[in-house]
Amino acid sequence: MKPRDGIYFLLSLPSVYRLFRTIVRGDGCRVYLSEYVRPIPGEKVLDIGCGPGDILEDLPAVDYLGFDINPKYVEAAQNRFGRRGRFFCGDVGLTAIEREAASFDLVLATGVLHHLDDNQALSLFHLARRALKPGARLVTYDGCFVAGQPKLARLVVSRDRGQYVRESAEYAKLAAQVFPEVRSFVRHDLLRIPYTHVILQCDNAGPLPSGCPPPRLSATLLPSAPE
Ligand SMILES: C[S@@+](CC[C@H](N)C(=O)[O-])C[C@H]1O[C@@H](n2cnc3c(N)ncnc32)[C@H](O)[C@@H]1O
Repeated sequence: MKPRDGIYFLLSLPSVYRLFRTIVRGDGCRVYLSEYVRPIPGEKVLDIGCGPGDILEDLPAVDYLGFDINPKYVEAAQNRFGRRGRFFCGDVGLTAIEREAASFDLVLATGVLHHLDDNQALSLFHLARRALKPGARLVTYDGCFVAGQPKLARLVVSRDRGQYVRESAEYAKLAAQVFPEVRSFVRHDLLRIPYTHVILQCDNAGPLPSGCPPPRLSATLLPSAPE
């Protein structure tokens, strides 16, 4: 096993991931939430790629549904935050939320798009669009490359365990295939280490851009309906 594979394996363990996140994140998560996500108490939130659910530490009381492809993360989230939200294991490319379609005020994909190839990323955008109420929003947050980026930040971003780190404009271009309104913000100051993020705010306003039909799902995982 290469040293990098070993680190990636360790990061797949919920406790190691949470420790790493606490060390590098500093106040960045709170800045991301307060300046870009702006969650409102009582909102219904879908968290795609929720990991161990740590974002719940910084969210107000919301009606929360999170899913992730890693069953260990989902189990850890369930054990720690089971009283504050619902969790299930699912792959963004294979998940549909038909019973809860058009019911969410906010969809989050925090640190997820850079783990997805373009087809999976488009599936994420379509899933988010179907989940959102009219006028509601998706917010994403990912490492990116951008012109003029500090060299060290570029190096660190290039070592991310996500295999699909993109130029900031590439993320926005993918989102614009599904969302009519996409705003993009680049930040170099959200972690304690040199790093560059792009945050997208995508509004579920107006009709789908033409020429991009939703992908066919080869399987469907449904979370249990709310009690
Ligand atoms: C960098 S972590 C972010 C976790 C969490 N959102 C956070 O902010 O701590 C990326 C997450 O995306 C999940 N993920 C990657 N590919 C996925 C897929 N195809 N479907 C669902 N989740 C996925 C990973 O398991 C991981 O938990």
